[in-house]
This record gives sequence, C-alpha cells and structure tokens, in this order.
Amino acid sequence: MEIKKICVLGAGLMGNGIAQVCAQAGYEVTMRDIEQRFIDGGMKTITKNLARDVEKGKRTQADMDAILGRIKPTVDLKEAATGVDVVVEVVIEVMDVKKQVYTELEKIVPEHCLFFTNTSGLSITEMAAITKRPGKFIGTHFFNPVPVMRLLEIIRGYETSDETLEIAKAWGKTIGKEVIVVREAPAFAVNRILCTMLNEAFFALDEGVATAEDIDKGMVLGCNHPIGPLALSDLVGNETLLRIMEGLNRELGDKYRPAPLLKKLVRAGRYGRKTGKGVYDYTK
Ligand code: CAA
Repeated sequence: MEIKKICVLGAGLMGNGIAQVCAQAGYEVTMRDIEQRFIDGGMKTITKNLARDVEKGKRTQADMDAILGRIKPTVDLKEAATGVDVVVEVVIEVMDVKKQVYTELEKIVPEHCLFFTNTSGLSITEMAAITKRPGKFIGTHFFNPVPVMRLLEIIRGYETSDETLEIAKAWGKTIGKEVIVVREAPAFAVNRILCTMLNEAFFALDEGVATAEDIDKGMVLGCNHPIGPLALSDLVGNETLLRIMEGLNRELGDKYRPAPLLKKLVRAGRYGRKTGKGVYDYTK
C-alpha cells in the first residue's frame, strides 16, 4: 500500500512535530485539533522550527514554503480524515476519549486506511478492539521534540497484521526515524525505563537529597544525558509523566508509585514549559 495522505489528529506538542516531519518527507498532511487556537499554536511552532532551519542554512525558503503548503490545518474531523491513507492519532491520553475518536473516524476514513496511535502508554489492543480494523491498527510512539529525536517506537497490538507492521516500519524510515519494534506492555520499552527514572528524581528532590539544579547537573555531567531528569519532565509535561506513572503503577504495582511531589506540581498546574512553570520557572 502506498501512503500519500496522512491525517494527524492533534496539533499540540507531539502532533505539530509529527505533522512537520510527515510534510518534510513529502506527504500531504491534514492537521486537526478541536479548537482553532490549538491549530494556530501548532502552525506557529512548525513555522518557527522551519524558519530556524532556514536561518541556519539547513533548508531553503522555497523548501519551507513547500512543506507548509503540504499541511492543511482544520478543526473539522470529516475534512481532515476523508480519503486519507493513514491517521496518526495524537489526542489526549484518556482511553475513553481515544475510543470515541476512533468510533467517529470509522465512519469517515476509507476501508484501506491504517490507524497509527501515538499513545505513550495506553493499550494498543484495547483501542484497536473497538474498531472494525484491529489488523490495521498499530502504535507509533514519537519522542519530544519530534523533529529532533531520531527514534520511532513501534508497538504491535494483539491483532496487528504483519503487513501493517511492515508498512509502519517503512513509513518510519521515510520520515527520517530509526525504528524499534516492541511488543505491547505497559508504557512499552522506552517510557517504562525513562519515566521511572524521572519519577525517581522527584522522590530524590522531595527527600532533599539535592537541589533540582544539582540533580539535573548530576545526571547531565555524571551520565552524559543531554538534559537532566527534572528539566526533561518539564519538557515532556509533568502531567504526561504522572499519567504514564499512574498507568505503570496500575498495571505493574507499587514499584512504579508516582512521586507525591510530581502529583503536587500537577495539581498546582505546574505542567512544565507548556504552562510556563514546572520544577523550574520559564516565565522569567
Ligand atoms: N523543535 C525542533 N528543533 C529543536 C527543538 C524543538 N522543540 N528544540 C531544540 N531543537 C533543535 C535546535 O534547533 C538544535 O538544532 P541544531 O543542532 O541544528 O542547531 C538542536 O535541536 C539542539 O538544540 P539546542 O542547542 O537549542 O539545545 P540542546 O542542545 O539543549 O538540545 C534537546 C535540546 C534536543 C531537547 C536536548 O536537550 C535533548 O535531546 N533532550 C532530551 C530529549 C528527550 O529525552 N526526549 C524524549 C522525551 S520522552 C518522550 O517524548 C516520550 C513520551 O511519551 C513522554
């Protein structure tokens, strides 16, 4: 099956990055979100990222214009999903919301259309089971910032066909990603390990083991990580980390208990960079 048209559902942190890398690879992309302000925000980020590439001489202005021309932003689900070959779903990490979206999508997309979900930890099998095409359903987990991070983690659901897996792997390469294939498990491979480490940093901070700055500095200089765990949590979103830890805790037990400080920050609305404040203050 040849992929030409892709619908990306979600224009936030991950959605706009996925739309950008797809358009960069030459695909026709529709990017849909539920409110115009989210769409505007997504297009602004893509434009900023591409303009930075132009400034650095990594791409031409004509290339940037062509990429932007391949992305059609819309708030209309029907307009976004009609006639597409693939839907990459990046909606909020709430199972019932995702199921509702797939139920609506089934009425719109063509029969051959594949469903790729960018969930960071929810069950692919459970989502696929409510569709009429579980064989055409697969997890494609991207990493933030999408245009920079090289990995695409592909997760097979229970009913995912070999053909869908091969198409998803080939597609990942066309958008410039290295692919790993994992079987379905809570938080898959990377987030299970990464998020547990980030969560541990919140325990350490709460227990007064070291300051936030020193915990981050320690992991950057002592382990050669590009960014410290607390700063990384602010980058991906503390509410996202909490949701992943809650899922791991539910499925795998107390070893994955979310840190109380992480919960507190989320309750305070300190999601990280996206809200201006998280562990650190980005408003200054
Ligand atoms: N979008 C596009 N490009 C970006 C970017 C963004 N948001 N942020 C940085 N870049 C680019 C910069 O333009 C720069 O490009 P050049 O090399 O061409 O100059 C490059 O990335 C490096 O950026 P900076 O020099 O500004 O800053 P840095 O060296 O500190 O790198 C970083 C920033 C790439 C984010 C780096 O800190 C990093 O790799 N951090 C780790 C990120 C990570 O672990 N992500 C995974 C999170 S987990 C996840 O996403 C999964 C989940 O489900 C929770």
